[in-house]
Amino acid sequence: MTLVRDTAGRGLRDLRVSVTDRCNFRCGYCMPRELFGADHAFLPRNELLSFEEITRLVTVFAGLGVTKLRLTGGEPLLRRDLPELVARLAAVPGIDDLAMTTNGALLATHAADLAQAGLSRVTVSLDSVDPATFSELADTKVPLSRVLDGIEAARVAGLPVKLNTVMQRGRNEESLLGLVAYAREHGDTLRVIEFMDVGATNGWERSGVVPSAEILERVAAVHPLEPVDVPRGHVVAERYRYLDGKGELGLISSVTRPFCGDCVRARVTAIGGLHTCLFSPAGFDLRAPLREGATNDALTALIAGRWSRRDDRYSEQRGLVQVTARPEMSYLGG
Ligand code: GTP
Ligand code: 5AD
Ligand code: SF4
Ligand code: SF4
Repeated sequence: MTLVRDTAGRGLRDLRVSVTDRCNFRCGYCMPRELFGADHAFLPRNELLSFEEITRLVTVFAGLGVTKLRLTGGEPLLRRDLPELVARLAAVPGIDDLAMTTNGALLATHAADLAQAGLSRVTVSLDSVDPATFSELADTKVPLSRVLDGIEAARVAGLPVKLNTVMQRGRNEESLLGLVAYAREHGDTLRVIEFMDVGATNGWERSGVVPSAEILERVAAVHPLEPVDVPRGHVVAERYRYLDGKGELGLISSVTRPFCGDCVRARVTAIGGLHTCLFSPAGFDLRAPLREGATNDALTALIAGRWSRRDDRYSEQRGLVQVTARPEMSYLGG
């Protein structure tokens, strides 16, 4: 195995692959409807990497030390036959954790197949368990009940569930304790994420961010918590456990406590662009060499070369550097 390090000594351990840029929700912080309407140009199907191509890339990344893989979108379950891709990826030597981020709308239909295919676990984006707030934030006709049925189907299929909530000042703050109660009742880990300035369409302002410290204080006032005392490693979330034993809460603080120093994550878009940061504008094209017949060794050399030049640490530099043309989250995956 050829292990690679970037200019800051960070390895490459974690890969996130977007399988589509489409979504059936229009969350305002990700795909605001005014900008992702009927005339938005989504990627044409023939531009997308095929399952064979994705599997080859993942095999090459695994050879470079990646053990953790996450499928993202847009909404990954909009990609036809996704369980088939999962089965192929679960069989790649070296990948020992295969997760997926989904909005849950189609999970009731697919959870059993995904588990059967070898998915390790699932992360469902859920910003409220109040039906009206959910509908307003996700801006979709899909009712909250369908998402909750999807989450339940995942549990029944034996998939460990995490719930991801993007917290926005004045939008879903009132939903926090309801989400906490729901997650605790079902034994799911809830992670509360600070609203980030990803992309160029969500109108981000710092005043919209609810700092994680405030979330911790509000939750701990009702359900006492203590930090989980294990080395954090490369994990994005700060972990807390409820003193009454009812599971964990995670806080993802990329605005108030950035974690670039430990960032071992690479992202590949649905068209095969390698991005070494959530905020890196240009993808490094892996599809052309793939389609031109590059060998695995040649692909390994290309990716290792790109990674060894990496110097990204956007969240640590926020406000100090200007990044133009930031990619959209729905294009790059979360
Ligand atoms: P686990 O393996 O379950 O711990 O997942 P994870 O926390 O690594 O990934 P997940 O996709 O659940 O991350 C949740 C959210 O954290 C993402 O949607 C982003 O908002 C944020 N996030 C994840 N990785 C990064 C990163 O590398 N940089 C920044 N700035 N934010 C990130
Ligand atoms: N800030 C933080 N997280 C975001 N996501 C999308 N947009 C943002 C943003 N502006 C993440 C959420 C969502 C996943 C698909 O992407 O975690 O659950
Ligand atoms: Fe879709 Fe997820 Fe973006 Fe919401 S956050 S619009 S569910 S991709
Ligand atoms: Fe990694 Fe970029 Fe996120 Fe920093 S901002 S943690 S370098 S993806």
